[in-house]
Amino acid sequence: MNKGLFITATGTDVGKTFVTALIVKKLRDHGIHAGYYKAALSGAQKTGKSLVPGDAKYVCDISGIKDDPQNLVSFIYETAVSPHLAAKIENHPVDKSIILRDFDRLKFKYEYICVEGSGGIICPLRIDTQTIMLTDIIKMLQLDIIIIASSCLGTINETVLTVEYAKKLGINIKGIILNSFNKENFLHVDNKKQIESLTGVSVIGCVAQHACDLDMDLTILTDIFKEV
Ligand SMILES: Nc1ncnc2c1ncn2[C@@H]1O[C@H](COP(=O)(O)OP(=O)(O)O)[C@@H](O)[C@H]1O
Ligand SMILES: [Mg+2]
Repeated sequence: MNKGLFITATGTDVGKTFVTALIVKKLRDHGIHAGYYKAALSGAQKTGKSLVPGDAKYVCDISGIKDDPQNLVSFIYETAVSPHLAAKIENHPVDKSIILRDFDRLKFKYEYICVEGSGGIICPLRIDTQTIMLTDIIKMLQLDIIIIASSCLGTINETVLTVEYAKKLGINIKGIILNSFNKENFLHVDNKKQIESLTGVSVIGCVAQHACDLDMDLTILTDIFKEV
């Protein structure tokens, strides 16, 4: 039985890749064949003739996935802008059927597949003759989400907005993970409490600055994945 989970965040650079790497590592450390997939990545590094998808490479390096990172991302853009704009500049539009094909290949290859989003929950992947939003991909892949959020000032607003938007679209939220959390910081501790009470969604994990492992019960972690 193969399982999947979509990892989104309250914005770009909040820690999706960092936390996803720890999730995949934890599963693999417990003998679960876990993998990674990302539909569209912009800002890839050019090495010789090939574009290296940095997020996929980071997750592979931390977690021990043996796949070539290029096989784990469907649309790789060099331009470091929103995927819809990079796609337009590079004349390489996102195609839902390719995403579905690549996801299907990887979900059968790996027991647990972590799918990282691009940006936050509202992220256009294509705006030309058709509009494809990140949320269309979440729905097409029939995945539940977790939301990576900051622990700092401003996170209540960002996290509640993200939760409300996902709920409005009928996307199921399995939990929130607070990143760069310091349990000695009264603001971080209060943010966790207020986010849970305002959203009704549990904070299922807190990741410290420079954490090397995910401090979460394995059963809680595996329970947030759903059959794919
Ligand atoms: N808990 C953390 N401790 C230290 N560095 C972090 C942590 N979370 C994120 N970072 C760093 O912050 C930057 C943005 O994180 P990243 O995971 O790439 O964000 P996203 O995937 O959401 O765009 C990266 O350089 C990453 O290494
Ligand atoms: Mg990332």
